[in-house]
Amino acid sequence: IFRDVPPLRRLRHQLLLANRTVGFVPTMGALHEGHLSLIRQAAAENTDVVVSIYVNPTQFGVNEDLSSYPRTWESDLEKLENLNNELENRPGKERTETEFKSAGRIAAVLAPTTKVMYPALPPTSELNGDGSFLTITPLARKLEGASRPVFFRGVATVCMKLFNIVTPDRVYFGQKDIQQCAVIKRMVKDFLIDTEVRIGPTVRESDGLAMSSRNVYLGTRRRAVGLVLLKALKAAEAAFMCGEYERTTMLGAAKLVTEQILTEQKALAPSQRALFEVDYISLANPGSLDEIDSVNPATGAILSGAIKM
Ligand code: PAJ
Repeated sequence: IFRDVPPLRRLRHQLLLANRTVGFVPTMGALHEGHLSLIRQAAAENTDVVVSIYVNPTQFGVNEDLSSYPRTWESDLEKLENLNNELENRPGKERTETEFKSAGRIAAVLAPTTKVMYPALPPTSELNGDGSFLTITPLARKLEGASRPVFFRGVATVCMKLFNIVTPDRVYFGQKDIQQCAVIKRMVKDFLIDTEVRIGPTVRESDGLAMSSRNVYLGTRRRAVGLVLLKALKAAEAAFMCGEYERTTMLGAAKLVTEQILTEQKALAPSQRALFEVDYISLANPGSLDEIDSVNPATGAILSGAIKM
């Protein structure tokens, strides 16, 4: 467990000299299977994995949940230890030298203090404080960025710092946060960072809800109605699968779902229902996140959305 930069740099140097490869999985803790699947992927593709746990203050807006964001350090470490046992006992792990090389384990947990990450930042403020911040325009202003203006500035800034500490061969991000993936890919390209961005699939609960550290905020009713986002996206995807590549058709199918579920909820008594507002449902170019009128099946598109409850 590393709280400061110099010791981790020394480990990194040793790994480099030993010709080992480092996969890096940045997280804010409150670990769940989504995080663990990224670590498994990193361990399959590298000899050593570094996981960071750091609740990054600069990516929270003033009215967001920085102080209440779930912090579960002890059980996070337990999960990582269990995962390392699982990785060590993988069948066939030491059969050949090549296999061993691609059958890695967690070598380090980076849990820096805010003093290390932001020496000039007052601990409660997301915007103030001296120092360098990264803006990635116009990507960071779209979709999530429209309602959370500081979010991607904070994400890009902290990831740049973490990448500079770890200097990983590969970095791992979850498709659940697809805009974050696009922002990081753009940052790596624009700043010529010597790493490969790898994207892992979204891990879901048994009913289909994407796993998220913030799902604990949903009560029972909102937890159930929260599936509306998946259902809407699935309806648009189903239209696409039937050969409907037009924006109006695909997003129309999604809208039908959100409207129907909202109508059902409104018909319930206030104590029984969970109302929501559609923030956006987007059909966008995978690189630029510009909204598109129709999908080019050769290049694909990103279908994503946000719903406020
Ligand atoms: P956090 O929300 O902890 O997520 C860490 C990583 O796990 C991200 O790449 C996220 O996309 C991925 N992840 C979360 N839920 C997932 C799921 N259900 N399936 C697959 N992957 C999932 O994202 C952040 O932290 C922060 O913004 C961070 C990148 C660490 C910068 O502070």
